Formats: sequence, structure tokens, C-alpha cells
Amino acid sequence: MTAELSDSAVFLLLKYNFMISTQSFQTNTPELHDIQGLIVNGYTHPCSVHMLFNFNKDLSNLPYIRSFFKDLLPYLQSAEDWGALKPKMMLNIGLTARGIAIVKPDLDVPNSNFSSTFKKGPWDPNNAQQSLGDYGDGDPSEWWNKQFANEDLHCVVHAYAMNAMAQNKLVEIITEAASKTNGMVTELKPLDPLKSNAGRLEQYLLSPADYIHFNYRDSIDEPNLNDNPAGKDQQDLNNFLIGYSTAENPIPGPLSGPEAKFARNGCYNAFRILYQDVELFESFLQEQSKLIAPQIKKTEEDTIEWLAAKMCGRWRNGSPLTLSPAQPEESTSKSTDFGYLANDDMKGLKCPFSAHTRVSNPRDEGVDVAGSDIVPRIIRRGMAYGAPVSVDPKADRGLIGLFLCGDLSSQFETLYGWINMNNFSNVFDPAENTPQDPLVANRINPLPGNVDPNFTIPMNYGTNIIIEGPLPQFVVTRGTAYFLLPSISALTEIATGS
Ligand code: HEM
Repeated sequence: MTAELSDSAVFLLLKYNFMISTQSFQTNTPELHDIQGLIVNGYTHPCSVHMLFNFNKDLSNLPYIRSFFKDLLPYLQSAEDWGALKPKMMLNIGLTARGIAIVKPDLDVPNSNFSSTFKKGPWDPNNAQQSLGDYGDGDPSEWWNKQFANEDLHCVVHAYAMNAMAQNKLVEIITEAASKTNGMVTELKPLDPLKSNAGRLEQYLLSPADYIHFNYRDSIDEPNLNDNPAGKDQQDLNNFLIGYSTAENPIPGPLSGPEAKFARNGCYNAFRILYQDVELFESFLQEQSKLIAPQIKKTEEDTIEWLAAKMCGRWRNGSPLTLSPAQPEESTSKSTDFGYLANDDMKGLKCPFSAHTRVSNPRDEGVDVAGSDIVPRIIRRGMAYGAPVSVDPKADRGLIGLFLCGDLSSQFETLYGWINMNNFSNVFDPAENTPQDPLVANRINPLPGNVDPNFTIPMNYGTNIIIEGPLPQFVVTRGTAYFLLPSISALTEIATGS
């Protein structure tokens, strides 16, 4: 049996060999005209639809598939500044490894230098699923409401518009482009048509606009992307953008071969559809608050907000617990400049160690995983889908999660592993069972080790508050795909065939 190198082993090897392999690709500034806009800019268009497609695998049909890309090119948005007026309609495109194999047969994707995580896909039980830990209703065999197989998903078109009319027009243009291909490009509709608009993943604008289901403000803290692609900070653009590796910050790439040229100026997108059980979450908060309110001497109403904040790490208005431990404050509602060590929270008395934001970005808390102190960062470009319970109780609803990174394994999957198993820092006692992120984690986890079913909230008056588990499964995975967001020139090459 041939031993296959894990992605992290490949990452380490590359770290020491990168100089030779990346030299020819180094430039000083990112080529914004060639980079898809979504990577660098957080769009705030009120409307978006995320349309999924399958390509026919027969090579003789490639000209039809090219025509699909050609029709979309005029709307493809680059990372260049669009000036004072936001484009009314625009789109970005992602391709799975199987999608690339069809549109770029010359790359020989299965034997290429794309990472094995990307090639195998997020459903692989021995690879991605070791960190993602999907099970039960969220098991990969259940994804996309069983409307299509995971392997059949080849392409996503992220379509953004300034109003509903422009969105309809753009969707029409995209469906028309697909229908012109004689069935060689087929749209895949992942949602139950009775619980959604035509089964498509369509953004639902909640009020206020930057809130998501469970009623938290989102999209507050993002890596501070900068124009220095040669930096060594995890936040730097070269940690996300393929082709800008440096000695201090190597990215697995691909770094060599024709696939490196194809992937240059691209970025990976872990596209994850997460159903949110809002009714379950709200009833959990209410029931637990009845028990906790007397202990913390607050009203039940205030305790609901307190518990929601302790589970997330931020109050629902966005104020980080570490800066505003007593109550939400307008002045801190979008604060990002804080640390757990810097702001005297190393006992978790303000923000519990397992709170979602503390686990997904432990900042200066101190991380120790196999001798590494790296805190992986990801760019989040997600939004809510599905009407709230008050508008349509039967609607499917949740998060259209776009988690962007330069390396799926060492960034996205590492963080997911931490969400499912809080074992990355010495604030967690290794002698005790391993706790989980109380908001997002998959409760039954295939990872080895003993899972702590409870949620512990450290308190400064001696005994901690312990919410006894098993905690309910608030979030269920509806589907996941790993896409590459290729460069504008790579997509043009697919469209023109040259
Ligand atoms: C339905 C599922 C999820 C919900 C409801 C949720 C909710 C939130 C909320 C309310 C915030 C605070 C706002 C902000 O800091 O911008 C946040 C932050 C964050 N979330 Fe999630 N999230 C979900 C899934 C995920 C997943 C799957 C990941 C990673 C794989 C993730 C990674 C992060 C990160 C990195 C932050 C920023 C933390 C910081 O920098 O302080 N989230 N999330």
C-alpha cells in the first residue's frame, strides 16, 4: 500500500522547498484586475443568489460549456475599485476539482498538485469529515436535500444585485446561458422547492441588514487584508491568494506545474449551507434562562440575552463580551480590536473559553497544537437564507456560508476541528473531557477523544454555571462544496479555449 502524505505534511515539506517553486510567480502587488472581487471585497448588495451547476463530462461537449462561461464574462466582477456606484448586477464563479477536471482536461486534476483535500471533497470520511464531523441529518449522504450527488456539483455562480428586479434579470441571464448549452450545463437546485424560492439558495435580507438567523449581528470581524502580498501575518492577502507565497508564509498552492499557473490569483471557498433551527435555539435560551436567572440575579428576559452572548462571545448587537462584559454597548458593537490576554480575560470570566467567536479566533489566548501557535484565519462572505419564523414558519432557513482561504486544510478545516473539539489551547484542561462550541458544533463527533456534553460558563463567585448537555443540535449541515474562485484570466481562458 502506498502511504499518501497528509495535507499538513505536504504543507510542511512545501514550507522548506517553496523558494525554488514559487520564485517565478512572485510579484509585489496583487493584480486586482485579475482577482475575483469577492475575495478582496465584502459586497453589501441586498440581493444575491448562489446558483449551482453540473457540467456534462463528455469532452466533446466542452464547446457548449465554454459558451456558458462566455455569456457570463460580461458580468464577472474583479477586485478593482468599482467607483462611486456599485454595479447593479455582477457575479463571481467557483469551480470544484471535478468541475476543473472537465473544463481544463489538460491539467490532469486527479494527478495534479492541487491539495488532496480539494480533490477529494468535503464529504471524504477519511479527510475533510475528520474535522467537519457531519452526522445524522447533516451527514454527507443527506446533503443538498438529496436532490443531487455531491460529486455532481461542478460550479457555483454567486450572483449579486442591487434590487429584486436586477436579481431576476441576472438569474434569467445565467439560466439562459445554461439552457443554450443543449443540456451540457444543468442547474442543480439544492433546497426543497416548497420551502424556498424555486429551490435556489437565495439571500434573505433580515432586519437590520447585517443580522443573521439566531438574531446576532454578523460580518464584524474579518482578516485585515492588505496590499502587501509578501507579508507574514496570517491576515495578509498572501495567506488567501494563490501564487504569492513567501518564505514566512507559504501556501500549499498548487505551487508548481500548469495547475499553479491556472490557480494563480485564485482563492478557495469552503461553501457550506448550514440550516439553523431558530425555534430550538430560542426555546433552549428560554428554558435555560429560567434556571440561570436566579443564580445571576437577572430577569429571565435579560438572562436570555446574557446566555446568547455567552454562547457566541458577542452580545446580539455585536459588542464583544471581553470589552463589554456587563451589557451590550453601542460604542463597542463593531469593535474588533481586543484580545483575551490583552483585555484580562484569561480565566474566561467575561467570555467563556468555548464561546463561538473565541474558538473560531482565539486571538492572543495562546494556541498550542503540535508545537504550532498559529491562529488560522478565514474570510467570511456569508449571508442568511430563508424567511424568519415570524414571516414563514415552514421555510428552510440558515446561513449560506462562504469561508474563503488559501488552504482548505490548515485554515478552514483546522478551525472547524476546533469548533467541534476545543482542544487547541491550554486554557482547556487536557485531563478533562473536551468541550465544544455551544452554538455551531456537531454534537456527536467521530473524532477520537471524550467529548464534554456540557457548556461551562466560568463565574467569579466560585462555582461555574454548567449547562448540562447533551446540548441540542442548533445547526445542521445541508451541504458543502470546495470551490476554487479562479482568476479572471483563468475563467476567460475557459470561455475562449485559449
Ligand atoms: C450557522 C452557523 C454560524 C453562526 C450562527 C455564526 C455566528 C457568528 C457570529 C454571530 C459571529 C460574530 C460576528 C463577527 O465577529 O463578525 C461570528 C464570528 C465568527 N465566526 Fe461564525 N457562525 C456560524 C458558523 C461559523 C463557521 C462554520 C465558522 C468557521 C468555520 C465560523 C467562523 C467564525 C469566525 C472566524 C468569526 C470571527 C471571530 C473573530 O474574529 O472574533 N462561523 N459567527
